[in-house]
Amino acid sequence: MIAITGANGHLGKATIKCLLKKTGGENIIAIVREPSKLSEFEDTGITMRKADYEDMDSLNEALKGVDTLLQISTTSMGERGIGQELNVVEAAKRQGVGYIVYTSGLKPDNEAHFLAVQQCLRTEEAILNSGMSHTFLRNSLYMETIPLFMGNAIEEGGFYLSAGKGKVSFVSREDIAEALCTVLTGDGHRNKIYEITGSDSFSFDDIAALLSENQGKRIAYVDVPGEVLKEELLKSGMPEEESGWFLSLTESIKHNEFAHVEDTLERLIQRKPQTLQEYLKR
Ligand SMILES: NC(=O)c1ccc[n+]([C@@H]2O[C@H](COP(=O)([O-])OP(=O)(O)OC[C@H]3O[C@@H](n4cnc5c(N)ncnc54)[C@H](OP(=O)(O)O)[C@@H]3O)[C@@H](O)[C@H]2O)c1
Repeated sequence: MIAITGANGHLGKATIKCLLKKTGGENIIAIVREPSKLSEFEDTGITMRKADYEDMDSLNEALKGVDTLLQISTTSMGERGIGQELNVVEAAKRQGVGYIVYTSGLKPDNEAHFLAVQQCLRTEEAILNSGMSHTFLRNSLYMETIPLFMGNAIEEGGFYLSAGKGKVSFVSREDIAEALCTVLTGDGHRNKIYEITGSDSFSFDDIAALLSENQGKRIAYVDVPGEVLKEELLKSGMPEEESGWFLSLTESIKHNEFAHVEDTLERLIQRKPQTLQEYLKR
């Protein structure tokens, strides 16, 4: 039985779709807060179980009889996010889960600027201390986050960010889902740590140049100081915690903490990962 937390999110759904090509729905348990969000899988034979990361009883119930768990990291930030992820690990351990696959962040480090990566590190440590077998997929940034950085750049002819000249080895969520699927259904992945990156890394200047070429008009990336970006985010109504979190991400990019490239993803999915050029064209 393979159970998946965060099963109705983008990555969860993409992973279920991939798993259904390799195994029967009767072998999959989707753990969600709201089962109606997975109605598209109603006729596939997968089991839906309801749990909230903040509710230990629901997690204990949802993880009964599970031997393999894909723990997809939470969207919550800070101490709250850490607490939620540790709850999942604790419940998994209590329910006798033997193998946990966790979606972490690229090269997590206590010194990392991005707060989410530090959260991932805490969860990795808890999993390592739990005695369960594990695989960590330490994902670089999703290509699908690029529109969030750029807003209406195409219409407006440019975008402001404080990522300096830092590069990112963007990776597509679908390729990550396929890699997760390989790990969950294949042999030889236990107690391994995989850094999941695209085949190349790109700065926001590179992205602006690629977009300009695609669009046939100039789209500029303007690097602004972090304080200026934060002030603008706050003015636009973004809460303090969220804007601090976003700034930690741009600082992390500026310091090339998402620039690392390796071919692990290509080896797991046995083909070239989707390229940034292909994504931007789409
Ligand atoms: N590497 C990157 O660039 C990047 C970018 C974005 C996110 N991430 C991380 O990767 C994860 C997966 O990405 P994604 O695109 O699939 O995110 P997503 O579409 O936002 O999905 C997040 C999932 O987490 C679930 N969730 C959140 N809080 C929960 C709680 N308290 N209890 C139970 N479930 C909860 C959500 O359920 P509901 O629908 O009920 O809220 C949803 O299923 C994210 O959660 C985040 O940690 C990484």
